[in-house]
Amino acid sequence: MPKDEINNLALRRELFFPSAEIYSSALAGFWEFGPVGQAVRRRLVDLWRKELVEKEGMVEIDGAQILPEDVFKASGHLSNFNDPIVQCKKCHSLSRADKLIAEKIDDIVPESLATAELDSMIKKHKVSCPKCGGKNFDKVKKFNMMMGLDIGATGDQKAYLRPETCQSIFLDFRRLYKNHRGDLPLGVAQAGKSFRNEIAPRNTLLRQREFGQMEVEIFFDQDKIDEVPLFEEVKDYKLNLWPDGAKGTKGISCSEAAKKKTVSGKFIAYYLARVQQFYEKLGIPVKKMRFRGLDKDEKAFYARETWDFEVETDLGWIELMACNYRTDYDLAGHAKQSKQDLSVNEGGKKFVPHIFELSAGIDRAFYVVLDLAFRKEKRGKEERIYLMLPPKIAPFLCGVFPLVKKDGLLEKAREIFNELNEYSFDVVFDEKGSIGKRYARIDEIGVPYAITIDYDTMKDNTVTLRDRDSMEQKRVKVEELAELLWKLQSEKEKF
Ligand code: GLY
Repeated sequence: MPKDEINNLALRRELFFPSAEIYSSALAGFWEFGPVGQAVRRRLVDLWRKELVEKEGMVEIDGAQILPEDVFKASGHLSNFNDPIVQCKKCHSLSRADKLIAEKIDDIVPESLATAELDSMIKKHKVSCPKCGGKNFDKVKKFNMMMGLDIGATGDQKAYLRPETCQSIFLDFRRLYKNHRGDLPLGVAQAGKSFRNEIAPRNTLLRQREFGQMEVEIFFDQDKIDEVPLFEEVKDYKLNLWPDGAKGTKGISCSEAAKKKTVSGKFIAYYLARVQQFYEKLGIPVKKMRFRGLDKDEKAFYARETWDFEVETDLGWIELMACNYRTDYDLAGHAKQSKQDLSVNEGGKKFVPHIFELSAGIDRAFYVVLDLAFRKEKRGKEERIYLMLPPKIAPFLCGVFPLVKKDGLLEKAREIFNELNEYSFDVVFDEKGSIGKRYARIDEIGVPYAITIDYDTMKDNTVTLRDRDSMEQKRVKVEELAELLWKLQSEKEKF
């Protein structure tokens, strides 16, 4: 969907909007989620929790967002977490050097390239300033993206807002491992906010300064990278792997990917399969997905192997999750800086566990799901807009509408609404305006079903159940509603 359509819908229906918008001093790169947006975002995170955390036997924590300087000395962020920036000599505006070149040549430009190399690419490709069109730039410089804070009354404790949620998982590893009843692997997850001082925030939720992450860190024994008890479940499942330099693939089974060493081992293939299956549940078609293998210039400083999970949209391929094989980089770094032993002893072997990470952006997934769900159709003179969201991440499962407010219909509708609430369904009640307008209002925010209470309800205790996508309707007995809705929500039954 064109990005203006998403932005219009987002503002009109309170999906998301700029933070501090009543002030002219509002900062770029900070966004609010309104009631509808927050409902979808919450469900998206819940689905991640169900599919990638609980089903996989992992645990979840909620760590602090502000951490002391030592953490980021050890993690490497203070020295390595830099973006290349360049200043226009004419209008003095700052831009990301890699992005400017990438836009000009329509190809990926790794942010880790040496500044001298970026300087010569700017000249070679005659890159111009996006603000004034000028072609003269100062030399490219590295800009650290950490957001610093001075803590305490005297401000003498230097700290930073976390740039990724996973650091507290590494810091908590020793405690979590001690209480973990089994051996490795141990998977620990966290969903929360991270902060990066982006030079050029843009495309609304796609490049923000404060953003949501849902991350999973799996600690494992590197000698057991081919030992995965549940591998049988995915062995024939096809991954859309685009190894470094490859342009497209028809899909490669997990067994084949592990055997041919396209990935480092079965362990990696197994989790990539779970990732792809999770995004399928968000309604993203497999043909629009890929795992792009990053080359050495593109990988983050802590990663040995990275598969970026990307989805094709009108804005091009958008990265939703980085799957990083971080080796023992993090635990070894924190052990050294903190002077604590973070190794484990299993079967008489003492070692520092390796980490495979599934690092997903919440807001990016939210944006892409909206992009792919958006539908605009002409019906005669009318235009119909609806979001084809899967029931599990729709803001509500259904609307409950009394046809009119009189003759007991309002009370009967409230009764049904309350009962569905008792069953823990997320339902929305609306008694205002014509029934057609009420349907249109919930279609536009992706609510899959609507229940209408009419005069027949008062006679035979049935309601009309309407399907958002086909707009078909059928009569359902009130006493059968909850079971039917449960089947529809869990996609065990089609409308
Ligand atoms: N934890 C990886 C990232 O935030 O990019």
